[in-house]
Amino acid sequence: MKTFKGSNRECLKASPLILEGFEIRTFRREDLDRVIEINTRCLPEHYSTFFYLDLYDRFPKTFLVAVVDNEIQGYIMCRIERGLSKLRALRLTRLCHVVSIAVMEAYRRRGIATALMLRAMRNAAVEYGATECFLEVRVSNEPALRLYNKLGFRKTRRIVGYYMDGEDAWEMARPIFEEDLMKGLK
Ligand code: ACO
Ligand code: ZN
Repeated sequence: MKTFKGSNRECLKASPLILEGFEIRTFRREDLDRVIEINTRCLPEHYSTFFYLDLYDRFPKTFLVAVVDNEIQGYIMCRIERGLSKLRALRLTRLCHVVSIAVMEAYRRRGIATALMLRAMRNAAVEYGATECFLEVRVSNEPALRLYNKLGFRKTRRIVGYYMDGEDAWEMARPIFEEDLMKGLK
């Protein structure tokens, strides 16, 4: 598989994505309360209002929400970072760091997180030139580990005591492929 080289950017402009039963669109400020509610219900890691809005101001194209029946049921937010590749030694690259993703329990196993991840990776490549995606996940978080495995991520290192409660994280990464840019386009 070829990695994204920056071709065809123009024909890949983001538009709202409507899949079976849900829509993926970019975050808006008025979505903030609902996104914070989802984060509070689904994850032990919480953030300040400033943190959400700062990510949104800097990287609006990779802050996405999933809407089902006019209500937000999932979100993803990312930070674009310049740094060393997690996959190739000593290679400086632009990385899409998935800071947080969650889907409300009643709406899981419908492909919403998969769609959020694919759309965020595509936007990270098309809008910000990212060529790699990475994240941290609790070593005990089986559903999320399975999701990332299925999306082609691999474990790049174990980070001992990464979380406030002392649990370790797996850092996981994958390249963003040219094929990914076509996924999520309808
Ligand atoms: N058990 C086993 N496999 C699972 C599970 C599960 N509970 N959930 C997802 N998977 C795997 C399956 O392979 C699934 O494909 P399949 O349904 O065809 O078998 C695949 O992941 C894709 O699942 P999606 O439907 O796309 O994922 P979903 O929308 O249910 O969301 C998520 C997954 C985000 C992990 C959800 O369970 C959640 O919000 N959990 C709580 C919050 C969380 O843990 N977030 C990730 C933290 S790490 C981070 O934010 C960087
Ligand atoms: Zn992180």
